[in-house]
Amino acid sequence: MKVFITRVIPEKGLQLLQEAGLQLTQWTEKRDLTPAELIAYCKQHDALLSVGPNKINSSFLQECSHLKVIALHAVGFDNVDVPAATALKIPIGNTPGVLSNATADTAFLLMLAVSRKAFYMHKQIGKGQWGFFEPTANLGIELSGKTLGIAGLGKIGFEMAKRCIGAYGMKVIYHNRHTNQEAEEVLKAEKVSFDELLAQSDVLSVHTALTPETKGMFNKAAFDKMKRSAIFINAARGGIHNETDLLNALNEKVIWGAGLDVTNPEPMAADNPLLEMPNVAILPHIGSATVEARDAMAIMAAKNIMAGLKGERLPFVVNPEIY
Ligand code: GLV
Ligand code: GLV
Repeated sequence: MKVFITRVIPEKGLQLLQEAGLQLTQWTEKRDLTPAELIAYCKQHDALLSVGPNKINSSFLQECSHLKVIALHAVGFDNVDVPAATALKIPIGNTPGVLSNATADTAFLLMLAVSRKAFYMHKQIGKGQWGFFEPTANLGIELSGKTLGIAGLGKIGFEMAKRCIGAYGMKVIYHNRHTNQEAEEVLKAEKVSFDELLAQSDVLSVHTALTPETKGMFNKAAFDKMKRSAIFINAARGGIHNETDLLNALNEKVIWGAGLDVTNPEPMAADNPLLEMPNVAILPHIGSATVEARDAMAIMAAKNIMAGLKGERLPFVVNPEIY
């Protein structure tokens, strides 16, 4: 059986697949495959291990309905037309849980960096602008005792909240479709309406999936309802915020600062004005980029591939309704 892998993945995942006697093709170029290339490769393989933003849409799935399994090297599956895959009985796998620590660390890092303008000052030093000790210059804001608002409190949001409570004794509020019982019990998190989340958060951190409901959820109307001292963090998906509205909100001091691990589009243009703003910190979608998380993701994706090729239920399945 043959597996197509759209990026070089950690050795631990490859080893499992090799030990299972599978024939592997890895795409090693430092660019994404075009849709036509992806289809052409998949037609010669039995399974797809997809890394990155490949569009697994309905036309891809129709063309490649022979695939026995599609394993994502990611927790997010907004790039997949899941109903179309389900209709064709193609199991889709993902990697939940193992990247929650790494992604929460990224959101926490962005929060701190924004609160102290750290990325900006680092760049200024490189431009010869060390500055002087001025009691009123380079001022950040402190996080102790502030309110953390989480949009989409799942596994990652839970870890972010834990960090903010442990480090700063922050109060946690959240907005979800469903109540997160564990977060309410363990973290004393309080479920609020979206408007209350906007009005009360000192730090508003996004950890929801990108869906038709959350697309563009953080737009002008939302930023207008936030505190002028608020920090907006998005380590989930760039499509959840409107980047022009965010830029305007920062320019007009409607909110205080923003930290993004995800942008819209990706990659962000090198001349994007957000990159020059003092109260902004941006990272190139590295939420899960730790040795620990990526090894675990590669192993989970490999296990999904192996199960799918044997016709067994995937251990980490996005569309269990096919079984
Ligand atoms: C990365 O963004 C993921 O969804 O794992
Ligand atoms: C994030 O919200 C998750 O489900 O891990």
